[in-house]
Amino acid sequence: MALKLVSSSSLTSARFPFLGSASAVAPASHFRSSTSSAALPLLLPVLQRGSSYAITASKEKQPDSLSLAAAAPAAFQPFQELKRKDLAVPVAPGHSLAKQFYSDECELAVNEQINVEYNVSYIYHAMYAYFERDNVALKGLAKFFKESSLEEREHAEKLIEYQNKRGGKVKLHPVMPPIAEFDHAEKGDALNAMELALALEKLTNEKLLNLHNVAKRCNDTQMEDFIESEFLTDQIAAIKKISEYVSQLRRIGKGHGVWDFDQMLLHEGGPA
Ligand SMILES: [Fe+2]
Repeated sequence: MALKLVSSSSLTSARFPFLGSASAVAPASHFRSSTSSAALPLLLPVLQRGSSYAITASKEKQPDSLSLAAAAPAAFQPFQELKRKDLAVPVAPGHSLAKQFYSDECELAVNEQINVEYNVSYIYHAMYAYFERDNVALKGLAKFFKESSLEEREHAEKLIEYQNKRGGKVKLHPVMPPIAEFDHAEKGDALNAMELALALEKLTNEKLLNLHNVAKRCNDTQMEDFIESEFLTDQIAAIKKISEYVSQLRRIGKGHGVWDFDQMLLHEGGPA
């Protein structure tokens, strides 16, 4: 703590070698009764000669020339630091040159998410094939699910590009064969398929959040940012949009309204 003695009558400060700048002024009587500073005995004679002084205190430590020299940051020595083994460029074949601070756990989790996206894309493609049939012929739903399938494939590709960017290796896993029939006795095919789509988007969102947790656990800030900016926001928007479609299909039932809904998708719809 730095101290300063201040004349309260003239407001001129009297500086002592052990004192520094002030941030606040307190009555001298208060300071005498409340402080135990080592500097106080030296100040008491001054205080006792008159009451026209106050002592100010600041928590800021005042640097002297020695401490300034000690606190000065060391100059960046690039060629010294480049001698570190972890910065050596790999020469072994099959080793990524770009890889840095990218854990095996993150690499594995990204490959798993690629598989999730491909599976969802495959299911949407099966829905597209169903609604495209001549005896179903709901062209709007067919278009919607085809675009949704392509979008999920794009998500897989985005993750593939990221895996390569970080120096990981893409490993594709098997894709499960989806169901082919989407009709339902009570709901009809349109509502049944849309409810399945909503459940799929929520499941995908859960998988993305799990992926984000892996990145967080591995202190991979860059990967966290990638998932947040490229996936999570869009995923919430997709869930909202399909939820609205489910609500609308529940209102209109299985009758003629499904045709109008399908026409709406045909002319205005977009992918999930
Ligand atoms: Fe996706």
